[in-house]
Amino acid sequence: MEINLPKGTHDVLLDEARGYDRIETVFKAAADLYGFNEFRTPIIEHTELFVRSVGDSSDIVRKEMYTFKDKGDRSITLRPELTAGIMRSIVNNKLYATQDLPLKAYYVGPAFRYERPQLGRYRQFNQFGVEAVGVTSTLSDAEVIMLGYNAFKMLGFEDILLKINTLGDEASRNAYREALKTYFASHLDTMCEDCKVRYEVNPLRILDCKVPEDQAIVEGAPKMSDYLSMEAKEKFDQILALLDAFGIPYEIDEALVRGLDYYSHVVFEYHYTTKKGVNVGAMGAGGHYDNLIADLGGPALSGVGFACGIERVYALLKDDELLVDTQENTDFYVMPLGEAALQDGFMIASALRAAGYRTEVCLENKNFKTMFKRAERKGSRFALIIGEDEVKTETVTLKNLTTQEQSKVAYGELIEKADELFDLEEEHHHHEE
Ligand code: HAM
Repeated sequence: MEINLPKGTHDVLLDEARGYDRIETVFKAAADLYGFNEFRTPIIEHTELFVRSVGDSSDIVRKEMYTFKDKGDRSITLRPELTAGIMRSIVNNKLYATQDLPLKAYYVGPAFRYERPQLGRYRQFNQFGVEAVGVTSTLSDAEVIMLGYNAFKMLGFEDILLKINTLGDEASRNAYREALKTYFASHLDTMCEDCKVRYEVNPLRILDCKVPEDQAIVEGAPKMSDYLSMEAKEKFDQILALLDAFGIPYEIDEALVRGLDYYSHVVFEYHYTTKKGVNVGAMGAGGHYDNLIADLGGPALSGVGFACGIERVYALLKDDELLVDTQENTDFYVMPLGEAALQDGFMIASALRAAGYRTEVCLENKNFKTMFKRAERKGSRFALIIGEDEVKTETVTLKNLTTQEQSKVAYGELIEKADELFDLEEEHHHHEE
């Protein structure tokens, strides 16, 4: 009997794997442009880490974590996001004392949430993210928001919708929370069960309610912007002014409250709708945090970051056919006919690979028709045909699969010929990879 995948997980294969690789490469290149360094932290962490950071009023900690006791009776959790682990590692390694600020980390890897699987929502998914820690200036916030925006552009997205909001400082938020409590108290009995729990643990989260019957009540709620301190409003305005100055369009969304507890001040999400109208929710999201490092035993340092969901980004890129250059593209496909030719072809292929050319040999005994089909599927630019005659004369028949041109090349001159065929620029590209 076959064994199926656990619900909410998926295999990433072939085209999709190449797509993920492309997304990660582009995001890494963007992060690199901004001076971020890679952090690789464990997938398992002590449960307490997420309780203290993501927060015990978040849906994630309340009901979505993969938590288990290990054989040493410790409570361990598969990370539901990567920010907490990065913060823990900054504190554990005292990086704020040895490295320049802001500390700039980027990361990529799987995260786990026990959510109801649906379009763009998995139980194991992959995130790419960045965190900049230790500089309070709103320039740091703007830098991270711009990094994300530019990375999505580099991937080929046009018309990215940047939704942005501010949750203010703690005092602003406390005042607002009280106002929400007063407002919702008189409506609560008609609202959904989730909202009743949210009312107790964090009334801000009610603004996130998606239940249609609750929308009219939610829309009538007091607005955060009316409860912002002068300082909080100023900070938000500074960020918006920077985005304006750099021509980055945004939409202020006062209902944007985010599902994790650690945010204060600016929060944002990147959205995109494909030409066919597909929308998978936020393809990336993040915000500013003030207490994460301190709550984990470090000094009082603020930070800002975002993470994108690679599954979602891939789905959107694919739907808009923005992944055209991720097909397989072999340089040479070697087609031997017969045992002696196979021996020679194998040798020729290893010489080409050593010179940096992507080369594949047909290792099965197939006819030319089949081998040409395979070469095409591999996106090969050239075929190297080796039959009985070729073996005798130690030459190959080189066929350009685009122009169909054919010529004979002696075994010993093949590398030289290959270098000639791939112009200098491309050759350079090759050897770098
Ligand atoms: P988040 O909004 O929970 O934030 O997740 C960030 C992104 O991960 C989402 O916008 C979405 O694209 C993707 N994502 C989340 N859950 C799933 C899922 N179940 N399936 C597929 N994709 C998903 C965070 O995780 C924060 N750590 C972001 C951050 C970094 N804030 C500050 N620094």
